[in-house]
Amino acid sequence: MDITDREKVIKTVRDFKPAIVIHCAAFTDVDGCEVDKEKAYRVNAFGTQYIAEGCSDINCTMIYLSTDFVFDGKKKTPYLETDLPNPLNVYAETKLLGEYYISHILRRFVIVRPSRIFGRGGRNFASRIPELMKHKGSKITITRDIVNSPTYASDLADAIRFLVQKDFYGIVNICNRGECSWYEYGLKVKEFLKVKDAELIPVSFSDFESRKAERPHYSVLSTQLLESLGFTMPDWQDSLRTWLES
Ligand SMILES: NC(=O)c1ccc[n+]([C@@H]2O[C@H](COP(=O)([O-])OP(=O)(O)OC[C@H]3O[C@@H](n4cnc5c(N)ncnc54)[C@H](OP(=O)(O)O)[C@@H]3O)[C@@H](O)[C@H]2O)c1
Repeated sequence: MDITDREKVIKTVRDFKPAIVIHCAAFTDVDGCEVDKEKAYRVNAFGTQYIAEGCSDINCTMIYLSTDFVFDGKKKTPYLETDLPNPLNVYAETKLLGEYYISHILRRFVIVRPSRIFGRGGRNFASRIPELMKHKGSKITITRDIVNSPTYASDLADAIRFLVQKDFYGIVNICNRGECSWYEYGLKVKEFLKVKDAELIPVSFSDFESRKAERPHYSVLSTQLLESLGFTMPDWQDSLRTWLES
């Protein structure tokens, strides 16, 4: 269903009566959000509000996938859940609004903040790099000054399942251990895939003049909280290898 249709969303949740709603839908085109701000607010902020309203009606738990982009990237050490968000772009602003709506409407919610998700079937850049590299003589321009922690979708799902079983509620960072720039991520993909002729061209984010949205340059998330609850995420390189070999 279209999550911007308030009545339909609330009715669907009411009729279906789920124990838990895991809300992953979003307008994720970060540059596109700058161009179509209204859509970004309708999908990411208000769509999330409607799902929260539906969950509130039937008293079910809501799990929301937020983002590391809620931070401005000015910190020099990994972001904690308690650090103050300061979104740099419309996508992040609207995702953060989604967080606020949920926390005002519901008592039983989990706001998950992952970063740079990769995995099977993913449409985002991190998930598509392996395919792009397999094209003969491929040249991929990739930033070396945007650093965060990649998150393997399968590990993310395991961590969410763990939190549900633990009855955890609140805000939690979930990403793989370690950090890297996009360029370093690309180099590892190349190494693990053993592709010889793909060329990675490292650039600065400012070289992409067509990019409309500012991005945080350092949005590594601390997973201390998740670990204190008893769940340790694998290192990103191990998970990347697992995915590429699967
Ligand atoms: N990818 C990342 O690196 C990353 C990092 C941090 C957080 N996140 C968050 O994680 C979640 C999943 O990200 P992703 O990369 O898997 O995103 P994605 O591939 O763009 O998938 C988003 C999904 O939302 C659906 N959607 C968009 N507008 C909708 C609407 N009005 N009603 C119903 N469904 C709608 C899309 O449906 P269509 O296929 O029909 O368009 C698509 O299936 C998002 O909430 C995102 O903000 C992602």
